Amino acid sequence: MIIAIVLIVLVLASLLFHFINPWHQPALASNWQQMDDTLTITFVITGIFFVILNLFLVYVIWRFRRRGARASETVAYQPVNHRLERWLTGITTVGIVALLAPGLKVYADYVSPPKDALEVEVLGSQWQWRYRFPGADGKLGGTDPRFVNAANPFGLDPADASGQDDALVDSSELHLPLKQPIKILLRAHDVLHDFYVPPFRARMNMVPGLVTTFWFTPTQAGRFEAMCAQLCGVGHANMRGLVVVEEPAAFQAWLQQKPSFARASQPAAPTGLAAGSDPLAQGLALAKAKACLACHSVDGSAGVGPTWKGLYGKTESYADGSQEKVDDAVLAREMREPAAKVVKGFAPIMPKTELSDAELAALTAYIRSLEPVKN
Ligand code: CUA
Repeated sequence: MIIAIVLIVLVLASLLFHFINPWHQPALASNWQQMDDTLTITFVITGIFFVILNLFLVYVIWRFRRRGARASETVAYQPVNHRLERWLTGITTVGIVALLAPGLKVYADYVSPPKDALEVEVLGSQWQWRYRFPGADGKLGGTDPRFVNAANPFGLDPADASGQDDALVDSSELHLPLKQPIKILLRAHDVLHDFYVPPFRARMNMVPGLVTTFWFTPTQAGRFEAMCAQLCGVGHANMRGLVVVEEPAAFQAWLQQKPSFARASQPAAPTGLAAGSDPLAQGLALAKAKACLACHSVDGSAGVGPTWKGLYGKTESYADGSQEKVDDAVLAREMREPAAKVVKGFAPIMPKTELSDAELAALTAYIRSLEPVKN
């Protein structure tokens, strides 16, 4: 009988928790109301069956409780009951179809973008996001892993004319035009990642060697956090991006500033540093854009890599047992050739970062500004 009471409490507590729990989906900011509807259908069906089955169990426990040892109450053995089996099979089939069919329908829509959708490529790598838009020709250029290097993280084929005008966004911040269908093409550089923007109800795994795709239409202007939804290594939790949805004119102005592949691959390519602005502000902006801050804290807290707070001027110990004082030259080597010397206590996982001299100077100035500690 105690089990019956526990089951009743379980049902009541579950229902109560569902209706008063403080966790809710963020407000929908895309066309995918269908996703929410599908979730609601699933929740209602499973919820109803959860209550019915548990209460049925309670009834059975109560109805067939032990009442003395009279022979008439011996349980009857009934190995087969075809009528009951047909009913149960039928009800289960209807339930499964009702659970699956709406999801299959939504998924089919989700991967069938409208013809006028704007293509955007999202490239995931440990642990940052990059984005690519087609240029004036409306076509994304071909890519191949053979062409991937620090200067060409997208692996664009230099011989493919349609890739020359592709706009490259070497930053975790993506801008999108409001009310324009967007076709997202997803690629991964190294391991599984998953591009997920909860208010859009949109996500998809990114698989090395594949291009996966989905589409959505942003219906609300605003700033939305993108996150990685596949455990992709020690920096996974910091693999965050920002999607800014804005009026088409503002979006176009933002996109115009992004270098084309042809421009980015020139040796003297503009660095994206705003001329004449404060080097510390430039350094901070770069640290964010190059995803340095995904692994290096600036407040002394532990991270995937050494904190930048008090790093400049400190005596660093290396895995090979050596020590040296951190100055401009050490920072330059650590950023450009991170594998050359690995700081003691950290894994040799920092990616090689392609930096112009101006970018290196700005980052160094920023790291230097982070209040050296005495040691
Ligand atoms: Cu990328 Cu988790």
